[in-house]
Amino acid sequence: MNNSAYIPALGRREWTGMYDWVIAAMTRERVWRSPVLTALDARTGEVIVDLGAGTGSLGIMIKKHAPGARLVAVDPDPDVRLIGERKARAAGVEIDYETAMGHAHLASVEAAEADTVTCSLVRRQCPLEAKQSILENAFRLLKPGGRLVLADYGEQPTPLMRTAFLLVQMTDGFEPTEHNRRGAVPHLLQACGFQRTEIVKRVPTATGLISIWRATKEV
Ligand SMILES: C[S@@+](CC[C@H](N)C(=O)[O-])C[C@H]1O[C@@H](n2cnc3c(N)ncnc32)[C@H](O)[C@@H]1O
Repeated sequence: MNNSAYIPALGRREWTGMYDWVIAAMTRERVWRSPVLTALDARTGEVIVDLGAGTGSLGIMIKKHAPGARLVAVDPDPDVRLIGERKARAAGVEIDYETAMGHAHLASVEAAEADTVTCSLVRRQCPLEAKQSILENAFRLLKPGGRLVLADYGEQPTPLMRTAFLLVQMTDGFEPTEHNRRGAVPHLLQACGFQRTEIVKRVPTATGLISIWRATKEV
């Protein structure tokens, strides 16, 4: 996997400028981002890594909630970084950016340095190998006792949610999205070393059920 192997935020580069609008309109963004923020429980002095940070919406929320935390936004796509930097300036918050894949060793964060790692709406659109290597990297970056908070489409338990999720599958492809739909996330978390995993919230949206998982790297 190299830096050019990523799928852009909405599947095609020319659509990236519409990303924030589409996510707000199609995913009930406020309803799922706010429990992510609660689950992160960010505090002053902590190091928080957002893998696949995209246009930085979550990062800005985190920094507004905990201005004294250090937020490192990691994404392989320079286009979303530009949007994120502009938004952070407008919001008056300071975010450190790193252009890298989610599985990469980072220049600005050492192994076992992060208090929290988060990753939202990224892994659904990655092949299984990439999903696993992002979680392995999250585990590597976390301090013992650190927490991972994931938000993504997982199992779609009702016919309505399965039908809604078809839109995501048609955009991102059936192969990468099917693992999530079949409930692979908890198994992958366990395989990467996370021992305690829980779903903190499930949010029905126009594009399927978004689940929020919290997992801990045991001391
Ligand atoms: C759907 S967007 C989600 C952005 C953001 N996390 C959010 O909640 O709005 C997916 C992002 O993941 C990035 N991405 C794709 N493949 C990746 C990978 N293997 N590692 C890290 N980021 C990746 C894309 O560049 C894109 O910005």
